[in-house]
Amino acid sequence: MSKRTLLVTSALPYANGPIHLGHLVEYLQTDIWVRFQKQRGHVCYYVCADDTHGTPIMLRAISEGISPEALIAKVGKEHLADFTEFGIVFDNYHSTHSPENQALSRLIYERLRDGGHINSRSITQAYDPVKEMFLSDRFIKGECPKCGAADQYGDSCEACGATYSPTDLKNAVSVLSGEKPITKDSVHYFFNLANFSDMLQDWTTAGHLQPEVSNKLKEWLEQGLKEWDISRDAPYFGFEIPDAPGKYFYVWLDAPIGYMASFKNLCDKQGLDFDAFWAKDSNAELYHFIGKDIIYFHALFWPAMLKGANFRTPSAIFAHGFLTVNGEKMSKSRGTFIKARTYLEHLNPEYLRYYFAAKLSAGVDDIDLNFDDFSQRVNADLVGKVVNIASRCSSFIHKRFEGQLSDVCSEPELFQQFVDANQTIAEFYESREFGKAMREIMALADKANQYIDEKKPWLMAKVEGQERELQQVCSMGINLFRLLMAYLKPVIPVLATEAEKFLAIESQPWPVTATPLIKHAINPFEALMTRVEADKIQAIVDASKENLQATAPTVKAKQFEPIAPTIEFDDFAKIDLRIAKIIKAEHVEGAEKLLQLTVDIGDETRNILAGIKSAYAPEALEGKLTLVIANLAPRKMRFGLSEGMVLAAGPGGKDIWVLSPDEGATAGMRVK
Ligand code: 2FM
Ligand code: ZN
Repeated sequence: MSKRTLLVTSALPYANGPIHLGHLVEYLQTDIWVRFQKQRGHVCYYVCADDTHGTPIMLRAISEGISPEALIAKVGKEHLADFTEFGIVFDNYHSTHSPENQALSRLIYERLRDGGHINSRSITQAYDPVKEMFLSDRFIKGECPKCGAADQYGDSCEACGATYSPTDLKNAVSVLSGEKPITKDSVHYFFNLANFSDMLQDWTTAGHLQPEVSNKLKEWLEQGLKEWDISRDAPYFGFEIPDAPGKYFYVWLDAPIGYMASFKNLCDKQGLDFDAFWAKDSNAELYHFIGKDIIYFHALFWPAMLKGANFRTPSAIFAHGFLTVNGEKMSKSRGTFIKARTYLEHLNPEYLRYYFAAKLSAGVDDIDLNFDDFSQRVNADLVGKVVNIASRCSSFIHKRFEGQLSDVCSEPELFQQFVDANQTIAEFYESREFGKAMREIMALADKANQYIDEKKPWLMAKVEGQERELQQVCSMGINLFRLLMAYLKPVIPVLATEAEKFLAIESQPWPVTATPLIKHAINPFEALMTRVEADKIQAIVDASKENLQATAPTVKAKQFEPIAPTIEFDDFAKIDLRIAKIIKAEHVEGAEKLLQLTVDIGDETRNILAGIKSAYAPEALEGKLTLVIANLAPRKMRFGLSEGMVLAAGPGGKDIWVLSPDEGATAGMRVK
């Protein structure tokens, strides 16, 4: 096996929120792959950093009353602590707000500019006159220009699915101040991606991408590449563009450069040759692990930026799917939006490492964390199959043979079968088919248990004169256990290290040519892993629900919704709030989000179009009580006339609560 040199990255997590289990799919996938490469004897560097720039981080720092630098330092530490406790070992963990990143961003920008790939022109954008800030689409809300639904973001309507530009919104307000945005012109800088169309046509079909990703890109390339706005106006937390005072690099410009910058920081600390990895003629391999939502940035912008700035392009980009929990999107209200820290407070991180490994493949399909399956699989595979081999065999070795393994390998063929499996297992790891690798390893564990079951050492122990055979069988079991641990080492490194201590052996390399331990003394066995306890999972879910109440929302633009401007009592008094009984609820043909409700408000019935389809099946609503604004002027919507508004609360999607099941309430009752 010839020695390879690899540089590997995971996407840089935003410094505005905690690491959660969704993130961990990627970091664990990468860490397992990197550990495998290192165990095989290759030179492999794994670097990452916090992604620290942009408006949400700036706003969060303001709302916490601290500087963005203080915020990102705090969050960066928390991220690294979470990763470390999950056994994710980076060769370097840096920050995009670093001198290395500033210098490299500048260099790349200047090379792109000098190569004729940057244009600038004035554009008109929404502007918050109070906060004195330009507003991106997600910071503007108003009524949908198509269906009239209130409270829609500047880019698309959640009620009817229409997409539009923020200037089309009716009665638009800034999410930041509640003021009506004005429009304002400003010069922006654009990266001319279309200059790289030919290069990207080739690159995206040359084996650097998974087939399904390559196909998706084909569609985007056929639609034609648009120029990319890489600048933002002050105030912005980021790097000022060298030749454009008051203009900053858009966070997504310097984020991938953060991969290089983190590596540069490592090179400076360890005396490594940066150019050997990044120069055009580099022989090193470069891999980026990412989520499928950021393919556009990594498979189009990034290779084009590198090419245009005279650097090498990635060897491959490995995209993965999202995490669902119990078959559904992670949900704060269901307690399935689980922070890494919450998990760590209750369960062994290696359970999750193994479970994700067992579910991961090379594709972009989503993976599901099902709590029952999780306990069952960890308990059955790791505890029941693998650790059990050591516990069954070591007790005899200690009680009867003073910890000494036999002086022969009684089943050399069986041992060799286990060694030979290294090749198939390695191929699965290499191709990121971790699920297949785990199945292969568990099939070997079954074989080892079968061998022990057939030999029945517990019976041999009772028969005089079978000592030698007893020692041989148990030694064989221990030797097979040792190989299983070598194969599982990238996935469960802590358990593997504990097992090495128990076996009194050095850190195991990938067992290409392993020989059995003969006449070797092992250490007493201590429980290497205990079973997953169901009440711990419940505790995590409960704690995740509590987190929801206790913590401020993560500041993604979408969740940043300060209190609207104060209204006078007279304004409030104008609202006629009534309890209404839903007498009929139906689907609206062609509408993605709407339900048509017929509600009884006491003295009359009304038709209301409500954007709550993702939360309720119509039959679940009939007969229930809710609150409506009874005196809202009727509005003509794309799907009909809406004569009122149902009041709902909740984070959105499936979690919207409209109903008051209060028995004391009756339709038509006024709410004060
Ligand atoms: O999507 C995200 O979470 C980004 N912070 C990922 C950045 S990856 C890289 F380009 F920096
Ligand atoms: Zn709409």
